[in-house]
Amino acid sequence: MLLVQITDTHIEAPGDLAYGRFDTAQNLRAAVEAINRIQPAPDLVLHTGDMAHHGSSERYRYFLEIVADLKPPLFAVPGNHDNRGRFREVFKDTDWMPDDGTFLHYVIEDHAVRVICCDSVLEGRVQGGFCTGRLSWIDEQLSAVPDKPTIVALHHPPFGSGMSGSSSNGLVEGGSAFAGVLRRHSQVVRVIAGHAHRPFTCAYGGTIGYAAPTTCYPFALEMGPEKILSIINEPPAISIHVWLEDTGDGEPGLVTHTVPIGNWGEPTVLLRDGKRVLPES
Ligand SMILES: [Fe+2]
Ligand SMILES: [Fe+2]
Repeated sequence: MLLVQITDTHIEAPGDLAYGRFDTAQNLRAAVEAINRIQPAPDLVLHTGDMAHHGSSERYRYFLEIVADLKPPLFAVPGNHDNRGRFREVFKDTDWMPDDGTFLHYVIEDHAVRVICCDSVLEGRVQGGFCTGRLSWIDEQLSAVPDKPTIVALHHPPFGSGMSGSSSNGLVEGGSAFAGVLRRHSQVVRVIAGHAHRPFTCAYGGTIGYAAPTTCYPFALEMGPEKILSIINEPPAISIHVWLEDTGDGEPGLVTHTVPIGNWGEPTVLLRDGKRVLPES
């Protein structure tokens, strides 16, 4: 099973640049091309929120236009920049978007790894959280299938980043309760999130937490006392989560790769079928 995670695409209106500098639409086009070239072909793509910079219908239509060429099926959870009503409208024809209920959460069951897609949005707030209703729903989904490896996906990293000027330092509501739910379910192999606009990992709730890099504009790693949040021209990137039957100790497990998006030139092949292609230097 191979899951590609894209996040924080922050699509602007056609022709507009984010902060006058970042062509988020072009970056998403490049991500689509990169995903379509991945071998073996991914089973699915999961967007972990902040699809549009402002959740307007125009921007969502533009997003759909850009991802129309994406070969694997696309799933998504909302972020703080998204609008739940319009988000529901965008994906209303899919078989995974819930028809009713307040929260846009659901489970992807078709693969070797289950994916529990959560809605961590607190209406009108940048930070994320879980109310008792959402925590109960997550607990129920995990209790229903205790023996299958499971990824739990949400927009807001529930673990701290150490970035002093960022809102990516855990959930402001229900964070410790969420960690408690995860600790009761040992089948959770990863908690994956977006929102931080740069990749980092953390032990959380008895599992591994991973915040994914963005395809739009990365936040600089600022950990100083000035509490600065700044954007920086580092490469946009996607994440690849691949389930391996043996990760080296005879046991299966989930491996996560962070892959920058861009034109890095043709690769130089060193080995083919274990045999050296280039002469020793
Ligand atoms: Fe974002
Ligand atoms: Fe966000």
